[in-house]
Amino acid sequence: MNPVKHVAIIMDGNGRWGIKHKQSRNAGHRAGLNSVEDIIKVCLKKEIKYLTLYTFSTENWKRPKKEINFLFNLLEKFLINKIDNLIKKNIKLRFIGEINKLPSKLKILIKASEKQTSKNSDLQINIALNYGSKSELINCIKIINKKKIKLTEKSINKNLFTKYIPDPDILIRTGNTKRLSNFMLWQIAYAEIFFEKKLWPDFNANDFRKILDKFKLIKRNFGSIQ
Ligand code: IPE
Ligand code: IPE
Ligand code: MG
Repeated sequence: MNPVKHVAIIMDGNGRWGIKHKQSRNAGHRAGLNSVEDIIKVCLKKEIKYLTLYTFSTENWKRPKKEINFLFNLLEKFLINKIDNLIKKNIKLRFIGEINKLPSKLKILIKASEKQTSKNSDLQINIALNYGSKSELINCIKIINKKKIKLTEKSINKNLFTKYIPDPDILIRTGNTKRLSNFMLWQIAYAEIFFEKKLWPDFNANDFRKILDKFKLIKRNFGSIQ
């Protein structure tokens, strides 16, 4: 049976969910938070150590300002309202992406929540925010050049946003689209990928458990034969 250390999720389909329910796209973003809470509970129960959530991509700046502001506001509220609960549940928060380019109020909350949860160890949640895999890789190679160290698989791993985080075993994308949208292109080299039809706010604990059960039965070769 395959152990699951790290699950990464492209939480897609919020906007369509809002429209489908005759509400706004932003109502879909709000509804998506319930799915996040459900998935966290399953991770804790199953003792999964790392959960990465793709929350805002470097390409999402192309969206209307109103939607972008709503998303940042939603995250701010989440961090303010849920921090005590996260601490109580021994969850560590980490942010990956170009955080310095975000609004200052959000940046302050990010730094505070990382600090407040830094000693926690049951589950590490990596929030991919203003994250793009291509810019992450370019940045990484620039750091390696500057440090004048050898370009190797190890030196790349050590200079990505995901340093100290094992590669995802499972990648889930909801929202009925089969693409990666600039997410963890290097890190998912050997991830098992699950494309789900359901929109993110409809994705629940049961859907997640089904994926975990399927994953257990997959023969992972990593290029070898067994
Ligand atoms: C994913 O849902 C959340 C973000 C990208 C922030 P979308 O907002 O992309 O929802 P759809 O794909 O338009 O339905
Ligand atoms: C990917 O969803 C980004 C996040 C879920 C944060 P998008 O909705 O931005 O992806 P595309 O544009 O459909 O590829
Ligand atoms: Mg989308």
